Amino acid sequence: MKISEYSSLINDKLKHAISLNNVRYKGLFDAMTYSLNAGGKRIRPVLTLEFCRISGGEFNQAIPVACAVEMLHTYSLIHDDLPCMDNDDLRRGRPTNHIVFGECNALLAGDALLTESFYQIASSSLKDSVKNGCIRVLSEAAGLNGMCGGQYLDTNYSESFNENDIITINMLKTGALLKASCVLGVICAEGSESQIEAASLFGDNIGRAFQIRDDVLDVIGSREVLGKSVGSDNKEMKINYMTLYGEEYCIKLIEEYTSRAKDALLPCFSDTAFLFDLADSLITRNN
Ligand code: IPE
Ligand code: IPE
Ligand code: MG
Ligand code: MG
Ligand code: MG
Repeated sequence: MKISEYSSLINDKLKHAISLNNVRYKGLFDAMTYSLNAGGKRIRPVLTLEFCRISGGEFNQAIPVACAVEMLHTYSLIHDDLPCMDNDDLRRGRPTNHIVFGECNALLAGDALLTESFYQIASSSLKDSVKNGCIRVLSEAAGLNGMCGGQYLDTNYSESFNENDIITINMLKTGALLKASCVLGVICAEGSESQIEAASLFGDNIGRAFQIRDDVLDVIGSREVLGKSVGSDNKEMKINYMTLYGEEYCIKLIEEYTSRAKDALLPCFSDTAFLFDLADSLITRNN
């Protein structure tokens, strides 16, 4: 499979994943699907499907879990853009959710996507032990000691934060879900403990590189190509990798973390070409 084939498959599955039981909630359904079906790179579900495949499974087995990851990620973006967080007006090439549907409905659309993500897993035909493993990994990555914890630190930023704090924020707000996306694929294939560890190390390093590139793009990226607001971190007066180190050193770090990610796969997986290409493409991504 190519990245574009995986992401078209995910786009297609996401379009049919959420059902509307009562037309009176259509406004909420519209707010959810507005952001979910707006595109996006679909990196996280692609990682889930590919890790399932290289761990000895069929990638199809992991589709409900891949959809769940993307729903949860989309919720995090809707909330991240709210006025009380980053207060941004463009996402995935469209006006942000709260600009179109209002703050209250954007909040609810995020809540419903988060909840729906776990329903996707719970109602799938995966084995109970696999479902349990997925729910544990995804909830841990998204919650207090994962993405929400990272978003808390990011938005309750203090002048006293140092380099280690910035690393922690990146690992939690972005790294945790990227890492989980990889591990979930292995769990769907009922892969080995050592495959889980390798996927986790790959995801951790990709997560670091991914958020550093995100910080770089917030400064040097274009609003049209990114499809989201630029200068957002500066506006919120946040310290991040770019303000700490500048572009040149950030690029060196991104390359270093990408290379560590690739190395992590070698002992446990033989079919790494797809993930190597994906990791390399993220180094210079412009959106
Ligand atoms: C943006 O994630 C938020 C971060 C965690 C940096 P993506 O860059 O994956 O956004 P989409 O899904 O492609 O819109
Ligand atoms: C957001 O980090 C991470 C999450 C949404 C969890 P950013 O605030 O830097 O992401 P963008 O730049 O708005 O996509
Ligand atoms: Mg943010
Ligand atoms: Mg933001
Ligand atoms: Mg950013």
